[in-house]
Amino acid sequence: MCGIIGYVGTRDAVAIIVDGLKKLEYRGYDSAGIAVHGAGGFEVVKQKGRLSALEARLADNPLAGHSGIGHTRWATHGEPSDINSHPHIGSRNRVAVVHNGIIENYKQLKERLESKGIPFVSQTDSEVVAQLCEYYYSGDIMDTVIKVVNRLEGSYALGIMCLDEPDALIAVKKDNPLIIGVSGHGNFIASDVPAVLRHTNAVYYSDDKEIAVVKKDGVQFFNFDREPVAKPLETVAWNADSAEKSGYAHFMLKEIMEQPKVLRDTINSALSGDNRAVIDRLDAARFNRVAITACGSAYNAGVVSKYVFERLCGMTVEVEFASEFRYRETIIDDKTLVILVSQSGETADTIAAMRAAKSKGAATLAIVNVVGSAIAKGADECLFTAAGPEIAVATTKAFSAQLALLYILAVRFARLRGRLSEEEAREKLSEIAALPDQVAGILGNTFGIQKYAASCVGYKSIFFIGRNIDYAIALEGSLKLKEISYIHSEAYAGGELKHGTISLIEDNTLVVAIAGCGRLHGKIMNNIEQVISRGAKVLMVGGPAAREDEKLSALALPDCPELFTPSLSVVVLQLLAYYVAANKGLDIDKPRNLAKSVTVE
Ligand code: AGP
Repeated sequence: MCGIIGYVGTRDAVAIIVDGLKKLEYRGYDSAGIAVHGAGGFEVVKQKGRLSALEARLADNPLAGHSGIGHTRWATHGEPSDINSHPHIGSRNRVAVVHNGIIENYKQLKERLESKGIPFVSQTDSEVVAQLCEYYYSGDIMDTVIKVVNRLEGSYALGIMCLDEPDALIAVKKDNPLIIGVSGHGNFIASDVPAVLRHTNAVYYSDDKEIAVVKKDGVQFFNFDREPVAKPLETVAWNADSAEKSGYAHFMLKEIMEQPKVLRDTINSALSGDNRAVIDRLDAARFNRVAITACGSAYNAGVVSKYVFERLCGMTVEVEFASEFRYRETIIDDKTLVILVSQSGETADTIAAMRAAKSKGAATLAIVNVVGSAIAKGADECLFTAAGPEIAVATTKAFSAQLALLYILAVRFARLRGRLSEEEAREKLSEIAALPDQVAGILGNTFGIQKYAASCVGYKSIFFIGRNIDYAIALEGSLKLKEISYIHSEAYAGGELKHGTISLIEDNTLVVAIAGCGRLHGKIMNNIEQVISRGAKVLMVGGPAAREDEKLSALALPDCPELFTPSLSVVVLQLLAYYVAANKGLDIDKPRNLAKSVTVE
């Protein structure tokens, strides 16, 4: 949820840390802070609000040092404020800590320390780590950290500095992402790769219950028993530019526009690249059930693929929110394939769902965008979307890539189960391979969408409807709009409307109707007429529009087989949401109250 970073090296740590925090701000933007080893000890500047506020504060109070830690916050315990911002400093100023995650037993630990006279200044759970370190520190910071982590419950990625060790950073990982970057001028700790890409693409992926001692000229890893751990230094395929806006007004628009390439790369990897090998290894005959579990948009990708799997493979497919899946007595066994979909690969609920599925003997297949992430490493098999770094909180390109992989998986399973002939499977795969160009066609002319979006800024509530697979993509259209425009919206199965919700339809209510599903065009047109007759205005996405007038507007889609139309309609829905939010002048890449990777429960 939060973003942590640290640097120890020969260069100015402040500039490097602030730049890295810019690349982590999508993880949380309630406050930001930095601490460096200065001439007189720890020098700390921290500030409620965006990173830009911290930069302004640093301009007035410049810091200098060659090692430091930084943090950008998504508040869980303690409101966004200066005092609750990280880094947290120990009561005797010998330890500084930044934390991402939740210390679940912080109350008990805090009460114990307070009973020993140790003062706390914040309402956060994280400060307990700094005060515990201060309490146990007696000259050996590693010994201290081991005592502390063996008393913590919950999830954490920690960056720790000790006053007596200005040339070292301690980093600890448990159930939250942490990478160690290695460069020619110094070394890094960070929550995510984009934070270090400007300096290096050589990283170590920390594992759970691992401690890294990071110095300017070396990195050592230990387990919680202080035994050394050997780790491979890995090379990240991403480059610094991929984490830049490249002239676009927002990362979201850039990432929407990247979809043709992302789709091409992802589809090619599944047809003839690394993903193909994974798909070929899957023993479809072993499974009598597929359960897809995920959160947010990744869940919506699962819902779309349910219709594809059922239609092509004749298999039962359940799609479940990971936050429910992990606590439900789901009937799972070794004949179940559990597919975990996640852009970040670090979503806490999806990680827990993965562990629950594995504990019941299910085979687990992950569809993930981030190499080295917990879900990528934890699942039995992993397919990677080739979306590159996705910075905007509202996912777009990763979602589209997830759909493409799920389609190809369904075609593969249908072939292996004899539901599709070799020829039919080839035909389906070529229809999927045609999607990138069709998406490029939509992106080549967004005027109609921009014009319509401008007329939507005043709405307080917008309904999305669809039938069959269009209903599934309506879920994603509604989520995208809510996330970034703050307009309330809900998605409904078109046929359900008249069973209650239609009572909410009144003059000038806006209904967005997804009509890509040719077989049911007559049905969705009925629903459209039903809401128009109650005063609604309708924007129809896809399908031949029987008429266009002040009540019914239409945005056409390129011709495409029904099963794969979600890959086209979603691009229109992404652009609609983007331009509505842009017309409202909102912070599209960092919507309020959200974060890109939800690493806490
Ligand atoms: C989508 O735009 C949101 N960022 C959010 O719903 C997201 O899909 C969800 O948090 C799951 O994230 P993941 O794909 O990284 O697991």
